[in-house]
Amino acid sequence: MKKIVTGLLALTVIGLLIELAVVQAKKIGNTQGYEPDQPIPFSHKIHAGENKIDCRYCHFASERGRIAGIPPTQLCMNCHDQIRKDSPEIGKLREAIASDRPVEWVRVHELPAFVYFNHSEHVRGGVNCQQCHGPVESMTRMRQHSSLTMGWCLNCHRDMGNAPPHDVKTATGGDCARCHY
Ligand code: HEC
Ligand code: HEC
Ligand code: HEC
Ligand code: HEC
Ligand code: HEC
Repeated sequence: MKKIVTGLLALTVIGLLIELAVVQAKKIGNTQGYEPDQPIPFSHKIHAGENKIDCRYCHFASERGRIAGIPPTQLCMNCHDQIRKDSPEIGKLREAIASDRPVEWVRVHELPAFVYFNHSEHVRGGVNCQQCHGPVESMTRMRQHSSLTMGWCLNCHRDMGNAPPHDVKTATGGDCARCHY
């Protein structure tokens, strides 16, 4: 029985290593500092900084589920039906709604598919958005602030003391499976 379990664990790790090789080969490029152009120059500085709109007003899924989510265009119009409605950028929002197409925001943060990450566990556990995403309220263009590596996850878990694994050196497959399946 023990042999089978060890064998299965070894297979899981080998599987992960193969996946890593594939990821490396593809070089998806979502690295620290990644700061792509967006179809509309949305500024977190104007919205979350100068106008102090709460992160969770737009990223309302972050407390409830795995993803924080990008707000639907209709939510922008709660304000932009009135504010700056003659701006060509706001015109793009109206066009998107009229033609029933979402704005094609370029994704900035992306973990490999073999990692499980859940926003609500962190947000409800009292970790601030900024501890992971940096000073978003001063960004005119969204940028990946943290490295998003396994070491980054583990360092914080070690510092905060209440998340897996409690000791990496003695970590078991069970601890690994909290973040990998
Ligand atoms: C008015 C709505 C709005 C508010 C308020 C807002 N955001 Fe955003 N956020 C967006 C939109 C739209 C995008 C997609 C465009 C972009 O990346 O700039 C986005 C993108 C992001 C991303 C990157 C998503 C990805 O592709 O990886 C992060 C991280 C983020 N926001 C965090 C925050 C944090 C933290 C706050 C509060 C300090 C905040 N946002 C406040 C609308 C908002
Ligand atoms: C709670 C109100 C509110 C919401 C919701 C909101 N905005 Fe804004 N937005 C503002 C304010 C206030 C300004 C600054 C207007 C000014 O400087 O005159 C602004 C400015 C902008 C500008 C700059 C306008 C220009 O002239 O170029 C863009 C682009 C923009 N918002 C996009 C968005 C998008 C996209 C969303 C939805 C993801 C959104 N906004 C949601 C309040 C809002
Ligand atoms: C413990 C670190 C951590 C905290 C805290 C955190 N995030 Fe994230 N965020 C991430 C990671 C990691 C990703 C990439 C997730 C993926 O690719 O599966 C991400 C992705 C995102 C995205 C892209 C879309 C999505 O949901 O995958 C948005 C938007 C976002 N975060 C907003 C926020 C907001 C707003 C808060 C605070 C309410 C917040 N995050 C808190 C680590 C964090
Ligand atoms: C707190 C979450 C977390 C835990 C616990 C965790 N990992 Fe990871 N792991 C990640 C993340 C995130 C990545 C992807 C980023 C990267 O490659 O650094 C990753 C990547 C990997 C990779 C790809 C190679 C590498 O190092 O980049 C392997 C193999 C791996 N993990 C094995 C393990 C094993 C074995 C354990 C148990 C001892 C474990 N992980 C525990 C989050 C975790
Ligand atoms: C800035 C600190 C921080 C970072 C970075 C961070 N975490 Fe966490 N994580 C926590 C805290 C604190 C908790 C415990 C929350 C609570 O009290 O419920 C937690 C809990 C978790 C849990 C739930 C643990 C359980 O009880 O099963 C998982 C899974 C997890 N994190 C995965 C990740 C992954 C994957 C990453 C990296 C992509 C990551 N975390 C990065 C602070 C962090």
